[in-house]
Amino acid sequence: MTYALPREIGPREIGPREIGPREIGSEFHWDPAALTAGGDDWLPPVSQLFATGCGALTALLRHLRPRGRLHVPSYFCMGVAEALSAEIPIAWYRHLPDRGGPRWETLRAGPGDLVLAQNLFGRDRGEPWNDWMAAHPAVTVIEDHSHDPLSGWARNSRAAFAVASLRKTLPVPDGGLLWSPRGAELPRPAGAESEGAHLKLAGMLLKSAWLDGRPVAKDDFRGLQQRGEHTLLGNAGPVSAFTAAVLPLLDAAGLRQRGIENARALAAEVPVTAGPFRAQLICADQQRRDDLVRHLAAHRIYAPVHWRQDRGGVWSGDDEAADLAARMLTVPVDHRCSPADVRRVAAVLLAAPETVGAGIA
Ligand SMILES: Cc1ncc(COP(=O)(O)O)c(C=O)c1O
Repeated sequence: MTYALPREIGPREIGPREIGPREIGSEFHWDPAALTAGGDDWLPPVSQLFATGCGALTALLRHLRPRGRLHVPSYFCMGVAEALSAEIPIAWYRHLPDRGGPRWETLRAGPGDLVLAQNLFGRDRGEPWNDWMAAHPAVTVIEDHSHDPLSGWARNSRAAFAVASLRKTLPVPDGGLLWSPRGAELPRPAGAESEGAHLKLAGMLLKSAWLDGRPVAKDDFRGLQQRGEHTLLGNAGPVSAFTAAVLPLLDAAGLRQRGIENARALAAEVPVTAGPFRAQLICADQQRRDDLVRHLAAHRIYAPVHWRQDRGGVWSGDDEAADLAARMLTVPVDHRCSPADVRRVAAVLLAAPETVGAGIA
């Protein structure tokens, strides 16, 4: 399985202040201010915490031992799909980031099959899936709520299983939450905690010091983050003690709300589709998208791409999905941004020639 941290292009940086404006996006740092004991009521009462979302899915597949295939949305993380394809034959159905939702006619699941349903960028609704599940009781649906673990859909899910990779939205080094809204038996994580979580936590702590102006080299915490992510990749072991301890104390709802407000504020100025999972922009073509990612990085705004689809490797076979994947980027306006940060992102985007002709899905 191969998926990488967003690349960051720039000079070797020792401290944030000598260089210019605050960086926006990239990996979360550790911020104790996020610990408000803000309420753990979103955490399912019965769940298992794995090191990663992919590991949780792998463990679930091994536990269920399905006879059939796993149906995966065509706009999805190809690295995760590739990892799951080692466990079970995969089929694709069309689900694009275009508000059209899953194209049900392409989802040809039969009895004994499993379906991965995703709340893409947090913008889908649960009702159509509830109807589909009611009409297909012999198919097991696993919902992926990684982009919005606190959505109404996630909290009121009726699926057999649901999963969320937590470090995509919350400032924790690892964590793949698995639960069964229907109360089905869950697999347990096996083995020891991943060293990857420790490396990532070290990276988060050093980044925090760097943001405070301490003499920390950016390369050093980036190296820890990358090694950590690499080590963590697909791990089906238990979540780290750190993440397990802080999760119930995090102001997850407050972080979510701030992210949503920031994405909306950006959308008021720039043609992006807003939140709940940050904001997405579609460029006219791949060249302009890649140039825009570089342009933003030169302004210390680190925009990830969700998700590249390489037609030469594992890909969905859905040309429309691959085309969108080649043109989209995620604008990293999450809970960390201040109003001034959002205004700066908007100004940089509006001044970029690559933004001309960009639009929303
Ligand atoms: C939508 C989605 N689901 C699941 C995963 C897997 O999560 P993890 O990185 O924790 O294995 C990812 C990872 O990129 C993802 O983007």
